[in-house]
Amino acid sequence: MNIIPKHIAVIMDGNGRWAQERNLKRSEGHKAGGKSLEQLALYAKKIGIKYLSVYAFSTDNFKRSKEEVDFLMNLLIYYFNEKLDRVIKEGVKVVFSGRRENLRTDVLEAMDNIVKRTKNNKDCILNICLNYGAQEEIVDATLKIHEDLNNNIIQKETLNREFYYKYLYQNLPPIDILIRTGKEHRLSNFMLYQSSYAEIYFLDKYFPEFNSNDLKDIINDYQKRDRRFGNVKTN
Ligand code: IPE
Ligand code: IPE
Ligand code: MG
Repeated sequence: MNIIPKHIAVIMDGNGRWAQERNLKRSEGHKAGGKSLEQLALYAKKIGIKYLSVYAFSTDNFKRSKEEVDFLMNLLIYYFNEKLDRVIKEGVKVVFSGRRENLRTDVLEAMDNIVKRTKNNKDCILNICLNYGAQEEIVDATLKIHEDLNNNIIQKETLNREFYYKYLYQNLPPIDILIRTGKEHRLSNFMLYQSSYAEIYFLDKYFPEFNSNDLKDIINDYQKRDRRFGNVKTN
């Protein structure tokens, strides 16, 4: 039996280099990356993936020039307000992970709107990591846990590695497949808690070049992997 992964996560990296190698502005690479994301979400939904997490902007990406950050924020607003309409019509529900602080109010408004517009969709959850950092997520979860312990909402004994998920930005299942495009072999502060037993794929391609055939190949390979979770092979 071929097991369809439940949760796929993608570090969408390499937009800037894709553009620079073509003598285009980095912003053109981000636009091209946006198209790849739309295709990726439609394909994931089509083949029955229930959870798709994507890294759109990290807390550390604020270190970039104001011009690049502004371009990215405006592009995200355009995607949330218009460009993701087809994805939404296909039944995709959008949620966000990340800190709200430091984001512009027009970005927050567009985020809140798309969450509201898609809240009753059920087929696939698209978790967009925006102003996201995995270490920040763990720190934020720890603070909430501290507060709930102090207020007797939870007891020390309740806390274990499964329960901890409830305190992350979104209570999603663990990641089955983690893909990084962009020819780098690192996690760059992305979903560290949820990736504990993820099968990891580093792709020798920039994100604008990533297509549904790549995802198909990865899933085929994933279905051959022996996920032991610390146990030994039983057959
Ligand atoms: C990923 O592409 C998108 C974001 C980080 C927002 P990059 O912009 O990091 O592209 P490269 O890695 O510089 O090529
Ligand atoms: C990770 O890519 C963040 C996103 C894809 C949004 P980066 O380009 O920011 O990562 P580094 O700087 O190469 O580690
Ligand atoms: Mg990069």
